[in-house]
Amino acid sequence: MLNVAVLVSGGGTNLQAILDKIQEGYMPEVKIVSVISSKSDAYAIKRAEKYNIPVKIIPRRDYGDNRSFSRALIEYMQSIKVDLVVLAGFMYILSEEFIDTYKNRIVNVHPALIPAFCGEGYYGIIPHEKALEYGVKVVGATVHFVTKECDGGPIILQKAVYVKEEDTPESLQKRVMEEAEWNILPEAIKLISEGRVKVEGRKVRISQTVN
Ligand code: GAR
Repeated sequence: MLNVAVLVSGGGTNLQAILDKIQEGYMPEVKIVSVISSKSDAYAIKRAEKYNIPVKIIPRRDYGDNRSFSRALIEYMQSIKVDLVVLAGFMYILSEEFIDTYKNRIVNVHPALIPAFCGEGYYGIIPHEKALEYGVKVVGATVHFVTKECDGGPIILQKAVYVKEEDTPESLQKRVMEEAEWNILPEAIKLISEGRVKVEGRKVRISQTVN
């Protein structure tokens, strides 16, 4: 069984997609052991509670910087057994200590096709605003391992979505979530739980057969 901690900051629709897939029996080897929220009023908390998943609130605003906040996250996660950390709409940059502690065991979903529209400052609706401003015709989402370089870790899965003439940042965000994020995040977790994901340098190899 792969014990997963999901870190959230907001609405939690990506968390919901994972919960739905678990419910459907799509990833029998995955167990969500905790949902950790950086905000006490995140709607994601309600979603977790509905499934009786333990919720831990560690408010970012209680800490002076990301380093001390990350330390609190590590301390909590070491008190439970966590094999994989999933950042699902988690809006803070984790410390080097956190990333070293969970090396190749942290995945993030980013609402763009990395290396486009990513890095510091690109979160939430912003990548969609920038994509429309730039005039790209294809956008999408990426699931990647988290390294010290913001949004720069090895890419596990990506999915493209076409931009429509009439798109607004909001309509694009919605379609990228529905068509890309909510599919590739659960898929990446499932592949990891099956032992099919191997990091080789900056590349990820996905084996066809279950180990
Ligand atoms: C999602 O689009 C996610 O990709 C993005 O925030 C949204 C959270 O939605 N994450 C980032 O921008 C992180 N850099 P959710 O709370 O409904 O899953």
